[in-house]
Amino acid sequence: MNILLLGSGGREHALAWKIVQSPLCDELFIAPGNAGTARCGTNISLSPLDFPALGRFALDKEIAMIIVGPEDPLVQGIWDFFHGDPRLQHIRVIGPSREGARLEGSKAFAKVFMQAHNIPTAAYREFSAESRQAGIDYIRQHTLPVVLKADGLAAGKGVIIAATHEEAITEFEAMLSGKFGDAGATVVVEQFLQGIEFSAFVLTDGRHFLLLPEAKDYKRIGEQDTGLNTGGMGAVSPVPFVDATLMDKVLRRIIQPTIAGIRQRNIHYQGFIFFGLIVVNGDPFVIEYNCRLGDPETEVLIPRIQDDLLGHLLAVHDGSLAQASISPDPRTAATLMLVSGGYPGTYDKGKLISGVDEVNQSLVFFAGVRQDGDALLTDGGRVIALTSLAGHVRDAIRI
Ligand code: AMP
Ligand code: GLY
Repeated sequence: MNILLLGSGGREHALAWKIVQSPLCDELFIAPGNAGTARCGTNISLSPLDFPALGRFALDKEIAMIIVGPEDPLVQGIWDFFHGDPRLQHIRVIGPSREGARLEGSKAFAKVFMQAHNIPTAAYREFSAESRQAGIDYIRQHTLPVVLKADGLAAGKGVIIAATHEEAITEFEAMLSGKFGDAGATVVVEQFLQGIEFSAFVLTDGRHFLLLPEAKDYKRIGEQDTGLNTGGMGAVSPVPFVDATLMDKVLRRIIQPTIAGIRQRNIHYQGFIFFGLIVVNGDPFVIEYNCRLGDPETEVLIPRIQDDLLGHLLAVHDGSLAQASISPDPRTAATLMLVSGGYPGTYDKGKLISGVDEVNQSLVFFAGVRQDGDALLTDGGRVIALTSLAGHVRDAIRI
């Protein structure tokens, strides 16, 4: 079977690394990929958002499955595009329909969904330009800190945790005035939850689900969780504080009702769900849904999956997911992200990378790396994810 994988980060390198190990994989193409995915398959310079070009390519190369890494193509309706064209319908797209991707693409939709299906999440109200004054009044009487979220995709920057009412109102008005473009036309104002975060992941066919290993990412740039937020500086799996009791609550209160909600609403959803969770006094709440895998969470999750992931992705489409199971590697995986100096502020690209081939005890996943002749050059803020497995998280980090 020929596969097309969309995306260009460390997540996609980890997925490509896993997919080509499957006996079910004939040829793997990655659009647009990076220097890491080029070591697993063939990069093609197509945008993951150019659906007509992807369709033509898929027909030309007899692609049987498209695996979508990032959220944008899903939110923009890649599944609907392929499903709606009789010549492309047979190609399996791993990812939800546009409607399903609204769980990530619209925070207001996700909130309405969670409320309707009794899924624990922070209390909230949503406002738009028409209800601007009501929003300001609501914020003024809200307990502090107060959380503001732009409804739509805002490249990970659309969440503000305001310490004062003045700051919250200024941010609220900035969002309504287009700070995040259309993404901020609706603003969710929600209660701040104090707790510890981690993430759960499932692969679903819209009726059944397969629970994948959980993970926790670390977002701040500095040691000991200090400094500015980043796209993710590292991750671990399993998560030390997640025990069977907590996971049972996550399954019963969050994952099962989410899948039931998707089914009840007749939403087409054949792909991954990433549950961003926060544990408050032992009880899990949903902070956000994502309709894809995380980055760098994928770089710890994938190496712990010992089974044939591509077989499971096929099961999503052929109705046999209920019989599928995975046996995760019992060891702990830890990923450390190597980043360019200056990140998450301004940084240079094009710096020479050396020593990659000398790494033999860790997996090396390229995030922002470009090949230039024989040289490897930095091509982003997050450059390389190094994943190590060991009996204890401390040892996995030290390798
Ligand atoms: P998001 O973009 O939805 O992932 O939010 C970014 C981060 O903001 C999350 O990872 C949390 O750390 C934090 N956050 C979002 N919503 C809340 C909330 N209701 N209470 C506390 N922290 C939150
Ligand atoms: N690491 C967080 C994300 O992928 O959204």
